[in-house]
Amino acid sequence: MKFFIDTANLADIREAQDMGILDGVTTNPSLMAKEGITGKDNVMRHYKQICDIVEGDVSAEVIGTTFDEMVREGEELAELDDNIVVKIPMTRDGVKALKYFSEKGIRTNCTLIFSAGQALLAAKAGASYVSPFVGRLDDISTDGVELIEQIVTIYRNYGYTTEVLAASIRHPMHVIQCAEIGADVMTGPLSVMLALLNHPLTDIGLAKFLADHKKASSM
Ligand code: E4P
Repeated sequence: MKFFIDTANLADIREAQDMGILDGVTTNPSLMAKEGITGKDNVMRHYKQICDIVEGDVSAEVIGTTFDEMVREGEELAELDDNIVVKIPMTRDGVKALKYFSEKGIRTNCTLIFSAGQALLAAKAGASYVSPFVGRLDDISTDGVELIEQIVTIYRNYGYTTEVLAASIRHPMHVIQCAEIGADVMTGPLSVMLALLNHPLTDIGLAKFLADHKKASSM
C-alpha cells in the first residue's frame, strides 16, 4: 500500500519523508489556505518546494470549475514537475478534463468521490487515481470503507488501471481496513501515520529490555 501525506505543511512532509515511508503527497485548496499559501506565484512555488522534498506523486488541485479553466490550470501545474498529478473535481466538466489529460499523457487524481458510480465514470475517463473520501462519508453515518471495497471490486472486474486512493483518512483503523480490502493508496495526516507506530506492549517490552540490560551491566 502506498502512503501519501495529506497536507501542504512542509515540516510534516519532511518528517514523513525522513521516516522513509512516504510515497507521495495530496493537497487541496483548504490545506493550502491552512498554510497561508495564496496567490498564483506563491501556490506554484509551494508545489515546487513539495516536489523537491518528496520522491513521489504530488497532487495539485485546480481551482477553476469549467473545462477550459481546468485544462489551462492543469497544464500549467503539470509543467512544474514530472511528479505533479493534476487533481480534478468530480463534475461533468471535470470528467471531460480527465479524458483530455489522459489523452495528453498528463496524470490526474479525481477528487470528491462519494459513490461507486462516480468512481466508474472517473476510471472510464482515464483518471490515474480516484479519491473516495472515507472520513467524510463516515461523518454522515455512511460506511466509507465499504465504498472503497465496492470500487476495488468494480475496477478488478474490468481491469481498470485507475488506482484507488483512500482519502479523508482519519485514524489508523481506516488505514488497516483499506489495506485489507486492497486500496492502492491511503492519504492521511502525519498524526495517522504516527498513530500506526503505537502499541502499549511495545513500550512495556522496550522498557523491560532496557531495565534488564542496565541491571546486567551493573553486576
Ligand atoms: C483528498 O485528497 C483530500 O485532500 C482529503 O483527504 C480530505 O480529507 P478531509 O475530509 O480530512 O478534509
